[in-house]
Amino acid sequence: MDKIEIGRINQTVKKWLQADYDLINKMMQSKLDISTKTGPRDLVTNVDKASERFLIDKIRTFDPDSKILGEEGQGDRLTSMKGSVWIIDPLDGTMNFVKQRDHYAIMLALYQDGQGILGYIYDVPKNVLYSGGPAIGVFANEQKLQNPENVNLRSGLFGASGPLVIENKFGMQSIIRNSAGMRIYGSAGIEFIHVLLGKTVGYISYLKPWDVAAGNILASTLGLVCTKVDGTPLDMLSSNLVLVTTEKAQQDIRKIVKENV
Ligand code: IPD
Ligand code: CA
Ligand code: CA
Ligand code: CA
Repeated sequence: MDKIEIGRINQTVKKWLQADYDLINKMMQSKLDISTKTGPRDLVTNVDKASERFLIDKIRTFDPDSKILGEEGQGDRLTSMKGSVWIIDPLDGTMNFVKQRDHYAIMLALYQDGQGILGYIYDVPKNVLYSGGPAIGVFANEQKLQNPENVNLRSGLFGASGPLVIENKFGMQSIIRNSAGMRIYGSAGIEFIHVLLGKTVGYISYLKPWDVAAGNILASTLGLVCTKVDGTPLDMLSSNLVLVTTEKAQQDIRKIVKENV
């Protein structure tokens, strides 16, 4: 896929996301229809489903031969990353959306034969769309982002998921003690944004493909390292224990993890 083609797709996708942003804001003005999935901490709303439906319909018309993986199951069953694959998290941070009406995002990614082409994280409450990929760089709305500084763990705040901290797996408490402090935002997308902007030095969490697909592309484009915790590449067909960090912090963290497995 050449740069002109990627630029054309990017312009189209940004229009879809703007319309999806409008849809979410409009639907929020009415009462939400909330149900549980696997348990009381795993919610889905009519807005998650409508956002996914909206994006799938746009992709099907624009790129009919592609495969689509969507969190809420309205896309395809994905068995391979061959060809053009779109991965959708129609509303990331559903618990925040329901309880706070804050700190949530839309996430969308395009992969071609397993290579990340374009990633999008739309911080809906702040109305900032983070977009881009290796061919075009990364933007916050229209502003091009610079690579965050390659700082070590000690110098930065660290984003961790609640369950990992509670279980103290992989030396989690030691990682946090060796950082400037811990932050938990409750949305993988919002956590990724903090790492992209250099506001945190890294983030660790068990994530499904739709939680990491977009962030992985944006982070890698900005010189960050996004891998499984043992440093091996992510597998977009299954859950991963994901670590996204600066290069220096990754070395610090992997040392601690190795001492605690
Ligand atoms: C969740 C959020 C949360 C992360 C969970 C995800 P959802 O996504 O990103 O921060 O810890 O693993 O499932 O379900 O709100 O899209
Ligand atoms: Ca969910
Ligand atoms: Ca998610
Ligand atoms: Ca979601």
